[in-house]
Order: sequence, then C-alpha cells, then structure tokens
Amino acid sequence: MNIKVLGIETSCDETSAAIILNGREVLSNVISTQIDIHKKFGGVVPEIASRKHVEAICNVVNQAMDDANMSFDDIDVIAATYGPGLVGALLVGLSYAKGLSISLNKPFVGVNHIEGHINANFIAHKDLMPPFVCLVVSGGHTHLVHVKDFGDYEIIGRTRDDAAGEAYDKVARAIGLGYPGGPLIDKLSKEGDKNAIDFPRAYLEEDSFDFSFSGLKSAVLNYLNKMNMQGIEINKADVAASFQQSVVEILVEKSIKAVKNKGLDTLCIAGGVASNSELRHQMGKKCKKEGIRLLYPPSILCTDNAAMIACAGYYDYLKYGPSKLSLNAIASLKIGERCE
Ligand code: KG4
Ligand code: ZN
Repeated sequence: MNIKVLGIETSCDETSAAIILNGREVLSNVISTQIDIHKKFGGVVPEIASRKHVEAICNVVNQAMDDANMSFDDIDVIAATYGPGLVGALLVGLSYAKGLSISLNKPFVGVNHIEGHINANFIAHKDLMPPFVCLVVSGGHTHLVHVKDFGDYEIIGRTRDDAAGEAYDKVARAIGLGYPGGPLIDKLSKEGDKNAIDFPRAYLEEDSFDFSFSGLKSAVLNYLNKMNMQGIEINKADVAASFQQSVVEILVEKSIKAVKNKGLDTLCIAGGVASNSELRHQMGKKCKKEGIRLLYPPSILCTDNAAMIACAGYYDYLKYGPSKLSLNAIASLKIGERCE
C-alpha cells in the first residue's frame, strides 16, 4: 500500500511543507525562509518567527500540494514537528496540522525535529537501514545518536553547553560576518590557515562522547580582544579556519569512536552543520581509512525542511500509530522521548 505523508515544519525560522511517498520519495518540499528578516537582529527573534509562520503557512502548504499535483484527499497522514524548538513557532505548524487532521478526518502524527534531521538520510539514501550512528549537528543541537531501528533512538553523547552551529554563529558574529554564520565561516575558512591559531579542543573525559564548545567560543573571543588591545590586525580567514578545525577535529574523532564502540559500520551526519565542507571532507577521509560507510543528505535536506519531518512521521506512524490531538508543543523535547 502506498502511504503519502504531508509534513509540516515551523520549529524555528523556516516555514516548510512537503509530501513524501512511502517514507523515501519526495513528491514536493516547499521551504519559505525568514532568514532575511532575522538577519538584521543577528539571530532569530521568536515573536517575529511565530507571526511570519502564521502569514506563510497556508501558502506553503498549498504550494506543496500543487507541486505534488495532489489534493488533500490524496494525503494519508499529516505529520508536524511538536518539538524541540521555539514554542510559539511550533504551535503554528502543529495547530495547522491538527486542524487539517480534524477537517479531513486523517491521522495526525507529532514528530521530533531532531529525529527528523536524522531521517533526512533515509530520503537521500534509499538503501539505508538501521542500525547506524548519526551525528546531529545543528544550530540548537549536537548529539551522537545510536539509531537502533526506525523510530528507536539512543543518545550516546550530547553537548554540555553550546551546539556546534551556535558556536559557528557566535564566532561569525564576533568577527563581523553575517547571520547565519556557519556557511560564511565555511566559505571564509577556505582562504585561511587552519593551523594559524591553536584554539583548544575539548575532549572531556577519556571515555566521554559528550561535546563542549563554549570554551572554544570564549577562546576565540579572548584572542580577538587580545589582538585588538595590542592593535594587531586580525586575519579573519585564519581565525575562521582555526576555529573550524577545532570543531571538526572533535566531531570527527568522537563520531568514529562511537561507531566503533557500537560495533557498527555506518555513520550518518545530519543537521545544518552537516553541510559544512570541511566536516564532510575530514569525516570522509577518516571514515575511508577506518572502513566506515559515511552518508549525509544534500544541503537542502540538512537545514530545516518538512521532507525530513514527513519521513520521520511515516516511520513513527508505522511503529507507534497516530498521536493524540491533545499533543502539545514541547520546546525542550528530547531525542527518543515520546509524549502524548
Ligand atoms: O538544522 P538547522 O537548519 O536548524 C536547527 O535545527 O538549528 O541548522 C542551522 C545551523 C546554523 O547554526 C548554521 O550556521 C549552521 O546550521 N550551518 C552551517 C553550515 N550551513 C548551516 N554550519 C557550518 N557550515 C555550514 N556550511
Ligand atoms: Zn533543525
């Protein structure tokens, strides 16, 4: 039987709707970004994000239906992100999905946004099956996850402070680049020397799979202050490349160790930072050396999108059935946590 899932994503600053066939095939994926609006504030303003989602949601969903050449009658399941994220933003997509579910009399499934990022790999790699390890690196999250089965996740490690993407954004702001900073640091780093400045690497305890990026961020800020006080001109490209090297080295080392520790042979990466060219390059080199299969989605499925939500919604629906319509938005929803 063919199952078509309409996915809706509004957890941060992208309003997105997508239709996915049998969990793997993208029939449409419409993404309306608010980045230009939040840029002037240097980050996402929650109240503005909610209002912009309200303005965009109807058009975005209708466009997703048009692009797939479908009517609402053709949809089997409606999935929406219910956390983690900005609660006001989440409520827009979640309420819209529940309204559709009631009016169309079709099942509704609430989806965890981070699990959605992981599931983007199922869309990009049709033969990918669990188990595998996934490194999720986004603006709000940094996790190493053991994906035991579809819809079954165990956290191996997590950041104890800043997320990787957050560190990229903060460092980018400090050296006067725009928002979001990740892609700009990625680009500028290509002109810099990654060994120019010896920024710290936080490996934490020997057997720990956790991450910490706030010390690195402070080290970059201290370096910039010191140079300013001494009147020495800063080489931004060197700062960007050296900072990036500290992040990438830790991500690569811990991810490979986690795959080996679980006795697995596949590593996926997901989330906005999974687009990073240096992370892909260095992870690819190390995985090749270790005989590990490395997979990641194309950039359009790394940053926030509803296709990944529809995909996760499909597998959650098959495994757990529909969610209750009383399901609320949960700003700090954990990976693997199932709420009613
Ligand atoms: O997954 P995502 O779209 O949103 C969250 O769920 O947080 O990730 C956005 C984050 C931002 O911090 C952005 O700077 C970062 O991903 N990012 C990158 C790159 N592209 C996006 N970081 C490093 N290199 C990139 N090429
Ligand atoms: Zn995200």
